[in-house]
Amino acid sequence: MSVEILVTGGTGVLGRQVAERLRSAGAGVRVMSRSGKPGTVHGDLLTGEGLERAVRGVDTIVHCATSPFRKPELVDVGGTDNMLRIAARAGVSHCLYISIVGIDGAASYPYYDIKLETERVVADSPVPHTILRATQFHDLIFLAVRFLDRLPVIPLPFGFLGQPIDSGEVADRMVKLALSEPAGRAPDIGGPEVAPLEDAVRTYLDVKGSSKRIVRLPFPGKTARAFREGAIVCPDNRYGMITWEEFLQAELPTESAA
Ligand SMILES: NC(=O)c1ccc[n+]([C@@H]2O[C@H](COP(=O)([O-])OP(=O)(O)OC[C@H]3O[C@@H](n4cnc5c(N)ncnc54)[C@H](OP(=O)(O)O)[C@@H]3O)[C@@H](O)[C@H]2O)c1
Repeated sequence: MSVEILVTGGTGVLGRQVAERLRSAGAGVRVMSRSGKPGTVHGDLLTGEGLERAVRGVDTIVHCATSPFRKPELVDVGGTDNMLRIAARAGVSHCLYISIVGIDGAASYPYYDIKLETERVVADSPVPHTILRATQFHDLIFLAVRFLDRLPVIPLPFGFLGQPIDSGEVADRMVKLALSEPAGRAPDIGGPEVAPLEDAVRTYLDVKGSSKRIVRLPFPGKTARAFREGAIVCPDNRYGMITWEEFLQAELPTESAA
C-alpha cells in the first residue's frame, strides 16, 4: 500500500518540488494550500480551518509552509502546534520539518527565532519527527539580488558569509527523509560554495553582463557580526552540487549568452 503524504506549503518554492518528486516516487500526495484551488486541499495554519480534513488518513506530513512576513508567530509556531495536535490524534506517524542552518547562532534575527521555536514545537510533539536544516536557496538570493538590481547602485553589507543551495537538491533530500523512518535532527545541508554575499552579487552582475557598482552598506550589531563569522553556513556539509553561477546561467540564459 502506498504511503499518503501531506505537503504543507506544497504550492511554494520548495514544497512544489517535494510534492512532484514524492509523486514520481509513487507516494500518494496531498498539497495543502489556503486557496484550496484544484489539485490542493484547503488548510490554513493561521485559522486552523481545514486542518482536520487535510490531515485525516495521512501517514507523513512534510511541513514546508511558512509565513515570514505575516503573523509568523501565529502561523509558523502556533499553526504548527495546532496541526501537530490534530495530527497526533489522527495517528500521523512522521512529521518532516524544513528549517534553516544556523538559526541558533545568528543572534536575535526575528525570523530565525520563529524557526527555532517552531523546531521546538515539532520536537516536543508526540508525532515522531525529522528536522532538516538547509542553507539559503539560490531562489531566495536571486529574488533579493533582482530586487536590489532595480537601484542605480547595489547597496550591500560586506562579508556576510553564505552557502546557497539549489532548492531542487533540498527537495531530493526531503524526499529521502520523508520516505524513511523519523530521524530526529538530520545532518544539516548546504550548497557547494561558501562565499561572501558581495561575491554572489558580482557573479550575478558578471553573468548578466552588467557593470553596475556595489556599494558597501554599514551593518553594525551582533547579528551582522554573526553573519560575518559564518553563523549560517555549514562548510563541512556541502550536500548540494549546483553552484550559484550554474543556477544563474539557467535562470538568465539570454543575458549570459549576450
Ligand atoms: N527560502 C530559503 O532560502 C530557505 C532556506 C532554508 C529553509 N527554508 C524553509 O523552507 C520552507 C519553504 O520555504 P519556501 O521559500 O519554499 O517558501 P514559500 O515559497 O514562501 O512558500 C510558502 C508556503 O507556505 C504556505 N503558507 C503560507 N501561509 C500559510 C498558512 N497560513 N497556512 C497554510 N499554508 C501557508 C503557502 O501556501 P498558500 O499560499 O498556497 O497557502 C506557500 O506554499 C520554509 O519553512 C523556510 O523557512 C527556506
